Amino acid sequence: MCGIVGAVAQRDVAEILVEGLRRLEYRGYDSAGVAVLNNGELSRTRRVGKVQELSSALETQPLFGGTGIAHTRWATHGEPNERNAHPHQSEGDIAVVHNGIIENHNKLRVMLKGLGYTFASDTDTEVICHLVHHELKTHDSLLAAVQVAVKQLEGAYGTVVIDRRDSQRMIVARSGSPLVIGYGLGENFVASDQLALLPVTRSFAFLEEGDVAEVTRREVNIFDVDGNAVEREMKESEVTHDAGDKGEYRHYMLKEIYEQPTAIAHTLEGRIAGGKVLDAAFGENAAEFLKDIKHVQIIACGTSYHAGMAARYWLEGWAGVSCNVEIASEFRYRKSHLFPNSLLVTISQSGETADTLAAMRLAKEMGYKATLTICNAPGSSLVRESDMAYMMKAGVEIGVASTKAFTVQLAGLLMLTTVIGRHNGMSEQVEADITQSLLSMPAKVEQALGLDDAIAELAEDFADKHHALFLGRGDQYPIAMEGALKLKEISYIHAEAYASGELKHGPLALIDADMPVIVVAPNNELLEKLKSNVEEVRARGGLMYVFADVDAEFESDDTMKVIPVPHCDEFMAPLIYTIPLQLLSYHVALIKGTDVDQPRNLAKSVTVE
Ligand code: M6R
Repeated sequence: MCGIVGAVAQRDVAEILVEGLRRLEYRGYDSAGVAVLNNGELSRTRRVGKVQELSSALETQPLFGGTGIAHTRWATHGEPNERNAHPHQSEGDIAVVHNGIIENHNKLRVMLKGLGYTFASDTDTEVICHLVHHELKTHDSLLAAVQVAVKQLEGAYGTVVIDRRDSQRMIVARSGSPLVIGYGLGENFVASDQLALLPVTRSFAFLEEGDVAEVTRREVNIFDVDGNAVEREMKESEVTHDAGDKGEYRHYMLKEIYEQPTAIAHTLEGRIAGGKVLDAAFGENAAEFLKDIKHVQIIACGTSYHAGMAARYWLEGWAGVSCNVEIASEFRYRKSHLFPNSLLVTISQSGETADTLAAMRLAKEMGYKATLTICNAPGSSLVRESDMAYMMKAGVEIGVASTKAFTVQLAGLLMLTTVIGRHNGMSEQVEADITQSLLSMPAKVEQALGLDDAIAELAEDFADKHHALFLGRGDQYPIAMEGALKLKEISYIHAEAYASGELKHGPLALIDADMPVIVVAPNNELLEKLKSNVEEVRARGGLMYVFADVDAEFESDDTMKVIPVPHCDEFMAPLIYTIPLQLLSYHVALIKGTDVDQPRNLAKSVTVE
C-alpha cells in the first residue's frame, strides 16, 4: 500500500526518487509527489494519477536538491486528488510521507487545530507533519521531535520526515508499515521496499517495529522503541537489478505467468533429496517444530488464502492432520479454539499484509506450538516474526494480480504436506509420488502455457459479458475461486466460484446464456460427479467452457467449449489448472482494455487494515 522513497545525497535526488516511485508504483498509484530541500527551501510537486504524471511535471519544472522524499499513494483517508497527495507539509517547514493509517487522527486533528494549525488535506497523514512541527518548538532536534510525535500516534505508520531548516537529514520511523534503509557511498536512502533502491544500492537494513532512524549522507543512527541506539543487520540484496523490468512482455502479469516454470524450479531447488522433501526447507529448526504437529491453522488473504484452501485438502487427505483455513481479517477479530499441538501457517507473497501479520501475532499470544510463514519477501515482517519460514523464491512479483506467487505457494504447501505427513503416517510411496510430482511440475506448467493461443481466442467470447461463474470440486474448488478472483480483479467482470456440488442449492437460478460457466475438470475421482453438475448447467441453457483433462471425455458442442489440458497427476492438478485460468483473465482484460498490471482501486501489498 503506497510507496515511499527518500534520499540524502550530494547530488540532485529528484530523479532517483521518481525512479524509485516507478518501481513501487504497483503498491499504489492514484497520485504521486516529491519534495526536496535546497539551500533552506522546501519545494514540492504533486500530481493525481500515475508516477508518469509526476515525472512529466518534473521534466517541465525540475526540482533541485540533495535531500528529498517521495510517495505514490493508494488512498485510504481522502479521495485521490492533488491536495491529498503526499508529501504533506506543515507551515512550509516540515514535509512528510506516510504509509499506513493513523487511527487517532481525528483526535489529533482537533488538538492541532486548537494549537492554530490549518489543515490543507483530508488525510490522516497531515497530523504527523503538524505534530512534528509542534514538537520542534520544544525539542532541539528533528530526531527528538519525531520520536516524541510518533509516541502520540495510534495505528500503523512507515513515515519519513524532512525539515526545511535542516537540509542534511531525514528522520524515518516504522510501526506496522515496512521501511528499509539503503546504504550508499556518501549518500543514504530509505524506501518501503528495497526494489525501489536497487539502481542506487544493494546494501540494506530493515527497520524493526518501533524503530526511529536519523539518516544523513554519512551516517544512519537507529533507535529502538525505547530510544536506545541499536544496530540493525545490514545485508546485501539478492534481488536482481532487472527484477522490476518487463523485458519482452507487454505486461508484468504476462511475464510472471510465463516465469512460473522457472519460479517453481527455483522453489524446489536444493529442497528435495533422496525422494524426500528436506525439513530444512522450512527453516533451521523445522524438524523439531514440525514433528508433533496434529493440527494446522492456515491464515491468509486473497490469492494466498486460496492456496491455503487447496492445502487443506492435502493436509487432511494425505498428511493425516486436521486443518482449518481462515481469512486473516476474520481470524484476528474472533475468538477461535486452539487445538493441542497446533501449527499456525501464514501464507503471504509480500510478508507485510496487515491482517495476516496481526493474525500471526495474535496466534503467538494464543500459544500456538509454532508459527510458519510461506512467504516471497526475505526480511519481511512475517519472515522475521515467524518461528519458521518457507522462502518461496518466486522472484519479485510486480503485477497486482498474483500469479507465479500462487503456484509457488501451492508447491511449497505440497512440500509442507509431505513433511508433516511423514510424522503422521504418510506412506513412503505417497511421499515419493508427491516428490516425483513436484519435480515434474516445471515441465508440465510449460506444457500448460502452450494453451495460450487457444485461450486468447476463447477470451473473445467474454468481451461483452458482465458475469461469470467458476466451478470446481475438491481441491479444484479453490482453483475455481482463484480463477474468479483473477477475472474480476483485472477485467472487472463480476465472477463467482462455487463448489459444483453446491450449484443446486441456489446458484443454478443464475444460469442463462449470458452467464458463462467456466469448469475445471481434471481426470480424478470426482470427475463423474462433476459431469453430472455440468449436465445440470446444460439443461438450464448455460454456456460452458470446460478446461478438461485430455482423457476426461468431454466433447465440444453448441453449449460447451472444451479446452483440453495436458494430463497430469492428482498432486499437481490444482497447480496446472490454475495456468489456463490465469491466461483467460489476462486475455479478457486485454480485450476489455483495462489496466492489467495496476487494476483500479487495488494495490499490491496491503499494509493497512
Ligand atoms: O501479499 P499477500 O499474499 O499477503 O497478499 C494477499 C492478497 O492481498 C493478494 O493475494 C491479493 O488478493 C492479490 N491481488 C490477488 O491477485
